[in-house]
Amino acid sequence: MQQRFSTDYTEGRAYGRPGQSHDAQLCEVGPGTPCGEFMRRYWHPVWVSSKLGMRPQNLRILGEDLIIFRDGRGRPGLLHPRCAHRGTTLYYGKVDEHGIRCCYHGWQFDVEGRCIDQPCEPQGGLHKNNVRQPWYPLQELYGLVFAYLGPPDRQPVLPRWDILENLGPGEKIFPNSTSGFKAGPDHPLEVLPCNWLQDFENIMDPFHVPILHVSHSGRGELFAPTFAIMPDVTFEYTELGVLYRAHRKLEDGNVLDRISVGMYPNVQSVPDGGSLSPGRSNHMIWRVPIDDTHVCHFSALRVPKDYEGRKRIGEETLWAEMTEEEHQSFPMDYEAQVGQGPITLTSEENLATSDKGIAMLRRRLREQIEIVQNGGDPIGVTFDPSKSVCKVEAGNFYQQSPATA
Ligand code: FES
Ligand SMILES: [Fe+2]
Repeated sequence: MQQRFSTDYTEGRAYGRPGQSHDAQLCEVGPGTPCGEFMRRYWHPVWVSSKLGMRPQNLRILGEDLIIFRDGRGRPGLLHPRCAHRGTTLYYGKVDEHGIRCCYHGWQFDVEGRCIDQPCEPQGGLHKNNVRQPWYPLQELYGLVFAYLGPPDRQPVLPRWDILENLGPGEKIFPNSTSGFKAGPDHPLEVLPCNWLQDFENIMDPFHVPILHVSHSGRGELFAPTFAIMPDVTFEYTELGVLYRAHRKLEDGNVLDRISVGMYPNVQSVPDGGSLSPGRSNHMIWRVPIDDTHVCHFSALRVPKDYEGRKRIGEETLWAEMTEEEHQSFPMDYEAQVGQGPITLTSEENLATSDKGIAMLRRRLREQIEIVQNGGDPIGVTFDPSKSVCKVEAGNFYQQSPATA
């Protein structure tokens, strides 16, 4: 009889295993890194418009510490925190209609970093035009504040998304910086303490749904029972990224094709998973790297005008209220992704058939990073305002199966 297991009791032991590493080319986002420069060719949401006021806020994005505020005329500003005079932080500055005034000696900067007043200098600063506080441009769209941290001569058009356009009279866009998780100690937004890519890869991982969300979490109120059916999945490259079609034959004889899409550098759309309502997805989610080991989420939802945000469902315990034991008993995406460590160690992974979408997402990401390294413009970037609207393929699409039609 064939022996199924090795009897060598020394095989596979943890002792003496080689050191492991993350994929620096794909994961690290600081200035000057390959992925950091790729990321800097796109606009990223960094704040919710309605939450940005005249009180300066610390913001960290792509490994850079910055100050964000809105001046008294309503213009958003994003500045390097260290004052161009002698370097104290503008976090303690005061904002008025013209800009932000440093707390130490009162130098004042507008939202584009121009020094407009130096009150301790003769005549308010005869040479103030020689000083510029380093700044980045911002734009507001869908109730979110987007920043561009890249080279000025490669600044693309801010993309729009077709599923969020042409609202009817009873509709609105609901912006949010939400993941349902907790705010980190150094950041007012909700933060996942892990690398952005292991968070983003979740979008090309349809097989975790029946396991993590249905079998392990058992929080069926968030996911329709249909998700217990293991899908047939195909993955495809698209104009802007990668998508999957999860194909399920339903008990009523119908067929559901559920399409989710990930677009570079870090944008995704996943159709409704609670009621599996038919039709196109109604939202976009951005997974914005704070630094190499933290990421936060922004979203924009197309909703009825009276929508006020997701409410507690029945007796549901919210994630933030769960005990440690409950987190173990009902793990969700947070536990699985943060459980991969601060930056997952790709060198010790064993990718399998079900990881085809992950492999495709990484392969194209690497290609795009190399395009930027070689002086080109990456996927999805356009400089033509007439081409700013992007198509989003995501949705729940039903058909009657031939047997029941
Ligand atoms: S350090 Fe800011 S004005 Fe002097
Ligand atoms: Fe998930």
